[in-house]
Amino acid sequence: MVTKIPLDDFLNAIDERKEYFLKSINFNKKLDLDESETSREILDFKKSVHIYSHLDSDGLTSAAILALALKRANISYQLSVLPQLETKYIEEIKQEIISYNRFIIFSDFGTGQLGYLKRDLETNNYLILDHHQPENLQEQPDIFHVNPYYYNISGESEISAAGVCYLFAKALNPKNIDLSSLAIIGALGDMQNKGEKGTFIGANKSILEDAIKIGKITLERDLAIPRNQPLHIALAYSLPEKLPAISGSEQNAKLFLSSLQIKMENEWKERRTLLNLSTNERKTLLKALINEGGGGKLMTNYFNLSNFDPVSDAKEMSKLLNACGRLGFSSLGITSLMGDKESLLKAIDKNKIFKREISIAIRLAEENIRNYENINTFYHNDINEKIIGTICSILVHSKEELKKKPLIAFADSDDHSLKVSARADRELVKNGLNLGKILREVCQKMDILNPAGGHPPAAGAKIKSMDLKTFIEEVDNAVGEKN
Ligand code: C5P
Repeated sequence: MVTKIPLDDFLNAIDERKEYFLKSINFNKKLDLDESETSREILDFKKSVHIYSHLDSDGLTSAAILALALKRANISYQLSVLPQLETKYIEEIKQEIISYNRFIIFSDFGTGQLGYLKRDLETNNYLILDHHQPENLQEQPDIFHVNPYYYNISGESEISAAGVCYLFAKALNPKNIDLSSLAIIGALGDMQNKGEKGTFIGANKSILEDAIKIGKITLERDLAIPRNQPLHIALAYSLPEKLPAISGSEQNAKLFLSSLQIKMENEWKERRTLLNLSTNERKTLLKALINEGGGGKLMTNYFNLSNFDPVSDAKEMSKLLNACGRLGFSSLGITSLMGDKESLLKAIDKNKIFKREISIAIRLAEENIRNYENINTFYHNDINEKIIGTICSILVHSKEELKKKPLIAFADSDDHSLKVSARADRELVKNGLNLGKILREVCQKMDILNPAGGHPPAAGAKIKSMDLKTFIEEVDNAVGEKN
């Protein structure tokens, strides 16, 4: 049996990295002062900070947590969001450190690029706050590197990058406990609520407790279907358990609802969703679903946010951020998280555009699926590289026929390259499949410049277009060997 090291060891390591960070930027002021006191202090730090973060929901929440923590400590910072920490960016960052005397924080990437960072950047100039699986866990973690795996904590299911950034922010100042809800939004973006009834496990569980304690999140039990979709559509396509009388048919779902006298439209002829149902209607619906054969999986936990009105569901907030990042509006997502209401309203609009783009791309992807012995693939030149990860995830989670093999997606990128996104169903992962490791090893074997990486069920890479055929063969073989 694997012995778990308590969270304390991880927190101690973070504390050491906080000291390293403050020393590196030469910060000499007490951090826990209130605003009026801070404004009277003379600041003494020699380096300003540049945060580089990933563009998905976990990356944007990480960036917002760090930005707020630095802002509150009066440490000057700037922020950039990247699709991935490619070698060309590391080269630019190296020049930036030399020219502008910056301190760099990498969040939600950096572990996969550790070799390049160690080669190109000097210690005392950067800090990595990441949760992706390191290549070599036998080595002692460097003072500029925070990663939960070194402390026997899974970065795939127990803490996200936003969680790591939150613990770092809390080490800087315990008053940053109010940023815990952002960490939960980030963890939901990486689908880490894999505990019973959609709850969190491990470090995420303690972070959630912080958020509940200070009233930033409340838990709610409800039916496990999308709460903002028209009810008959949510019941037809998204019930967690297939019920023959309803699943797969909108018509049957409508008949089922009318038999329960649950109206599908309100008085303004708008489609009703789960959120619009009264307590009694919810009870009736649940009872009827149980009568149809539904069981323990019907109910799940929802995480309600207290301060992002009109968005109340943390999962919905996380989707909104993903939309912003992938459409090229990361700053809208980050400023929404930092409390700007106008940005949040704009982000909601962007999400609507994103949903339309996604549904078009899903159709194109489905029409272009190719089956290999051990993998499935898709490519279409109209699918943008920033959204193939999302498309790949949706397809693997929603299509039974795509759950049996990993799905590897390709999209055109810059410089005659292809962006690669790979996703696998949890069952394959339970049987030992690790896509992060497979892509990393294949790219190493093929001498591909940019390191690939990720988690067992979700990973990515960037390859030259001319390497496509060999890459598919190598991944197909590597997956076959694991079976
Ligand atoms: O880009 P995509 O969404 O497909 O990435 C899936 C996961 O793999 C993400 O967690 C991402 O950070 C990680 N990844 C990585 N190294 C890469 C590409 C993706 O660690 N080169």
